[in-house]
Amino acid sequence: MHDAEALTGLMQVSQSAGRGEEAAGAGKKVFIKTFGCQMNVYDSERMADVLAPAGYTGTEDLREASLVILNTCHIREKAAEKVYSELGRIRQVQEARRRAGRDLVIAVAGCVAQAEGQEMALRAPAIGIVVGPQSYHRLPMLLEEHAKSGKTVIETEFPAAEKFGELPSPKRRAAPSAFLTAQEGCDKFCTFCVVPYTRGAEYSRPAAEILDEARRLTDRGVVEITLLGQNVNAYRGAGPSGGGWDLPDLLAALSDIPELQRLRFTTSHPNEMTAKLIAAHRDLSKLMPYLHLPFQAGSDRILKAMNRKHTMADYFRIVEELRAARPDIALSTDVIVGFPGETEEDFEETMRTAEKVQFAQAYSFKYSARPGTPAAEHDDQIAEEVKAERLARLQALLSAQQAAFNKAMAGRTLDVLWEAPGRKDGQLSGRSPYLQAVHAEGAHTLLGRITATEIVSASQNSLHGVIKN
Ligand code: SAH
Ligand code: SF4
Ligand code: F3S
Repeated sequence: MHDAEALTGLMQVSQSAGRGEEAAGAGKKVFIKTFGCQMNVYDSERMADVLAPAGYTGTEDLREASLVILNTCHIREKAAEKVYSELGRIRQVQEARRRAGRDLVIAVAGCVAQAEGQEMALRAPAIGIVVGPQSYHRLPMLLEEHAKSGKTVIETEFPAAEKFGELPSPKRRAAPSAFLTAQEGCDKFCTFCVVPYTRGAEYSRPAAEILDEARRLTDRGVVEITLLGQNVNAYRGAGPSGGGWDLPDLLAALSDIPELQRLRFTTSHPNEMTAKLIAAHRDLSKLMPYLHLPFQAGSDRILKAMNRKHTMADYFRIVEELRAARPDIALSTDVIVGFPGETEEDFEETMRTAEKVQFAQAYSFKYSARPGTPAAEHDDQIAEEVKAERLARLQALLSAQQAAFNKAMAGRTLDVLWEAPGRKDGQLSGRSPYLQAVHAEGAHTLLGRITATEIVSASQNSLHGVIKN
């Protein structure tokens, strides 16, 4: 999973339940702010869809909203702090609104809601609804309940009925590239991580449901789908005609949808990189040559303490096999520095790992002790200055690798999917097969299309190209 602070943003909800409709709550506006990973981005869109029949349309302006949803992330302390500071700001808006005789309902969703919802509601009575990631289909009911009682409504049980069956499928005229959650939750219990507690046990959606959703997306003009899951390559879902499907089966079936031109998936665990999945990178031309494969730490001793259940030798073998199967594959990764007990020698193994693999992209973090996780209890926590110093050294190396990877594209011709108008007039922004951001001059009619593009220059974070023909 990517760090997701980069993805933090506002969602625009469906306009399909128009203001003219007589649905309860017609004319109401919802402001959704998304923190955390791509799974939260996907969930925010589904929440917008579930609220549309209740008359809600989206707004990016808090002043217009009658409902605010904070879709939160609990992965590191900083991520959770951001939620609390945002909540403070919104409470002020709510107070002003109430003085004027109107209301603003505040709902907290996502992983902080799941982990600390009860305490949050006690500490901040301004919160009207606390809803965990498995219960978004119940939002309209929770809103009604809150409106009736005026009390904080908390829904953080993991209900037996899976939310996916209950959530409406994507409604909006989608951007050319879409996320599609295939798998959720995690059974791996890495000792630093909150995800098994906030998202629950691993669950894979039935393949037929995913294929259906993919077709509905392509009907709306989507040409690239990224399958999501905290452990997406652990996918084991029911196949359409009985029997179990794994991720390569699912990717092969998605490849057969003619309108779908590109496929990606994230995040993968090294222990789930089967020979069959590696072969899919060789055999499926729509599967993009890019893989996010976190290694977390370069020392076997630390990997063991993290409960990652693989060694560095395993990781290097997988990288070798991937590169043999798909020689141009670009790799990205996640790394944690300063896990409890990490010595200078352990850290140097992390540096050597990065040097050996050469990542096209990477997210790196200081270890953050999370309440309730085993590693938080260790008494050999690393001093903040040591973590900061190691992170700086690692990030210098990783950003040099990223720059080198991008610079090597100059002079090459890449297929670019044009996703959005660029910041400057007459410009487009898109993505290369290697997930690099690309900018070029081009007409808006090219949005949603893939064109051969000659790369003329490259910087740390993006490429500049000229569209051919
Ligand atoms: N399922 C993915 C990770 C999802 S969380 C995997 O197994 O690779 C995204 C990233 O956040 C992790 O890869 C890890 O690098 C980082 N992370 C998770 N918990 C953390 C913590 N307590 N402190 C610092 N970084 C953490
Ligand atoms: Fe967290 Fe580990 Fe599960 Fe990834 S595999 S979500 S790091 S517990
Ligand atoms: Fe954050 Fe939850 Fe995703 S903790 S990274 S939003 S699974």
